[in-house]
Amino acid sequence: MVKIILGDYLTFHHDPFLNDIDTSLTLNQAGAIIIENGLITALTSASDARKNYPDAVFEDCSGYLLSPGFVDCHIHFPQYHVIASYGEQLLEWLNKYTFPTEMKFHDRAYADKIAPLFLQELFKNGTSSAAVYCTAHAHSADALFTQAQKHNMRLLAGKVWMDRNAPTALCDTAQSAYDDAKQGIETWHNNGRNQYVLTPRFAPTSTEAQLEAAGRLWAEYPDLIMQTHLSENKNECAWVQELFPDSTDYLDVYDKYGLLKKGGIFGHGIYLSEDEKQRIYDADASIAHCPTSNMFIGSGLFPLFNCKHNNRPLRVGLATDVGGGSSFSMFATMRCAYEVAQLLGHKLHPYQAWYLASWGSANALHIDDKIGNIQVGMEADIIAINLQSTPLITEKMSQINTLAEQLFAHIILGDERAIKATYIAGEAVYRAS
Ligand code: GUN
Ligand code: ZN
Repeated sequence: MVKIILGDYLTFHHDPFLNDIDTSLTLNQAGAIIIENGLITALTSASDARKNYPDAVFEDCSGYLLSPGFVDCHIHFPQYHVIASYGEQLLEWLNKYTFPTEMKFHDRAYADKIAPLFLQELFKNGTSSAAVYCTAHAHSADALFTQAQKHNMRLLAGKVWMDRNAPTALCDTAQSAYDDAKQGIETWHNNGRNQYVLTPRFAPTSTEAQLEAAGRLWAEYPDLIMQTHLSENKNECAWVQELFPDSTDYLDVYDKYGLLKKGGIFGHGIYLSEDEKQRIYDADASIAHCPTSNMFIGSGLFPLFNCKHNNRPLRVGLATDVGGGSSFSMFATMRCAYEVAQLLGHKLHPYQAWYLASWGSANALHIDDKIGNIQVGMEADIIAINLQSTPLITEKMSQINTLAEQLFAHIILGDERAIKATYIAGEAVYRAS
């Protein structure tokens, strides 16, 4: 069966941080996205599509903006209820709110209850793919993968590894984490669109034996993505120096255990030295920029425009980091990234923000050949955006003309009301009522 979505669609042509911004993105008006078996197999005009595919199933989104679905490259599934927790910064926030909530996932039935709520929250915000931390319980990842598979979603997720400095009820061991993750890989990795992710939480909650086991497992499955946290908060950084006195810096802890290489995605990276940035660049590893989280739990300002080596930006994606982050919306996340850049004296162009929220995040996860753009050969993860979702946005849109201005208005004013529909592999998983 051929499925065709009609509307004005966006296509990225290159990375707007590397090449000319103005030509990085184009709007194709009155277009048609031809979808077969979940893949974009052709792009044409609406009139040609109606002529050439008379038997296709048409989704008419004329008048709406079709964008690649958003890709959230760092978010925590068990923190669905942690979002909006008052008054603490990272280490206290983990102990007071996060760990107690994550303990509830001991009960598989609870994980099964939260999984569809979590995914629906992503879909209604236009996020079609995400890299997700689960809890230390192996079945937390099973619950999420099972649910994602019902929607044919490209989900990247893994159980968290944590064998110290956390409540006993949340701790695994080096061996059990290795065994559970191996079982998870065998069960879920490349099963449909699922990808299993190695997820040592962060250096303070893993012993050296556990970090070594994580590095060993990654060496056995080199095509995996590995996600962890790095240099998010000043007290955290000082604690890492105390816990690992032989390491030259925070990044060196991961490097020592084989966790600094291509496919590694490090959450935050606010307080990296120039030398650490260079080693991340040399390793071709990635950073997940989580601006709403960095503001909400008071961590600091990520220097997106100084995250370079010889003027070449590092691989950076955009992420909500819910529940440290204060919104599931990539509009809110782009807005906050813009504001953080402003505070540091830089202008984040709307094409750059949109890129970070879609193809850039996919690039940081090494799946930019599969998702994050509307191009032939890509998987058909697409959102339809209502450009008149509120009276204020409607008024603002009447005053502006360019694509950059229109996207910027949505970055600043948009929220979930602007998402008319979210399509995953060509099928609607969410429609605004
Ligand atoms: N560092 C270690 N665990 C976490 C977490 O759950 N959230 C954030 N923001 N940082 C972390
Ligand atoms: Zn996080």
